[in-house]
Amino acid sequence: MELEDFTIPIVTAIGFISVLKSSVKFLRWVWVMFLRSPKNLNEYGSWAVVTGATDGIGKALAFELASKGLNLVLCSGKQIVEIIDKEIKGLDVGILVNNAGLAYPYPRFFLDVDLELMEDIFKVNMESATWMVLSVLPGMLRKKKGAILNIGSASSTIVPSYPLFTLYAATKAYLAMLSRSISVEYKHSGIDIQCQIPVFVATKMTKLKESSIFIASPETYSKASVRSIGYGQICTPYWAHSLQWFIANALPDTLLNWGILSYFVAVNKVAKLKESKKKAEQQKTVVDESN
Ligand SMILES: NC(=O)c1ccc[n+]([C@@H]2O[C@H](COP(=O)([O-])OP(=O)(O)OC[C@H]3O[C@@H](n4cnc5c(N)ncnc54)[C@H](OP(=O)(O)O)[C@@H]3O)[C@@H](O)[C@H]2O)c1
Repeated sequence: MELEDFTIPIVTAIGFISVLKSSVKFLRWVWVMFLRSPKNLNEYGSWAVVTGATDGIGKALAFELASKGLNLVLCSGKQIVEIIDKEIKGLDVGILVNNAGLAYPYPRFFLDVDLELMEDIFKVNMESATWMVLSVLPGMLRKKKGAILNIGSASSTIVPSYPLFTLYAATKAYLAMLSRSISVEYKHSGIDIQCQIPVFVATKMTKLKESSIFIASPETYSKASVRSIGYGQICTPYWAHSLQWFIANALPDTLLNWGILSYFVAVNKVAKLKESKKKAEQQKTVVDESN
């Protein structure tokens, strides 16, 4: 037999296998996004603790969890670590949602982030989230059930870098690794620990007012989020965000780095200009008033 006699069947078989693999992946994605039954969240316990529930994703998540019949402990602002231990003492806490998060008001270079904002970002995005896990995990371990949901960010996961939001993205990378690792430590003790990765959601943080297919409303996001609780260490629960992750993965890192940097540098310039105009106006008012 000649070599050519094998070429066509081999190429056909390779083609068939790769089409089959992609089809299985696609069907699995459809199942995960739209068809898989959500877990019965009441089985984890009768209470859920949600941080950063005054607005945005946290508020919508609180409503969604309440609609599933869970009792809620909501914490926001400085409450988080100070009073949470007292608040949850004796409660059958089944779910913790570490949602509170802080970013810069607008993109800025690393050296332009003032120390106070840096400290707040560390505190809210990493410290509070870690202490919250520390508060609820022992109780969950005693019952051998519980779910912890940490809200991460696409900035640390689906793109190779997130310049001009460096600290924010870095703290979210911490949260993703924390979730992955403690999930491995405690999965066998019945605790489901997960980091969810939103891309864009129309909230105060992003200053995006209109939602669309790719920019989820907090309500749409929270519905998808709650459906995914308990499934996997890292996930993107909303289907259009997952599609964006797929597209980002297909693009070269250099292109993404360049695109994100250029965009945020432009936004930074506009925001700085607005800030200096505002300052000048305020100074003018003070001078006028003192005359
Ligand atoms: N929106 C998006 O596109 C997007 C994308 C990726 C990830 N995320 C993540 O999703 C989570 C929710 O964000 P969001 O968009 O819903 O933002 P948001 O509308 O600004 O809400 C943020 C929440 O965090 C709380 N928070 C802010 N600073 C705090 C502080 N110093 N101490 C305690 N709590 C504080 C706020 O409570 P107070 O008002 O009481 O301070 C508020 O309830 C964050 O972790 C964020 O990083 C959002």
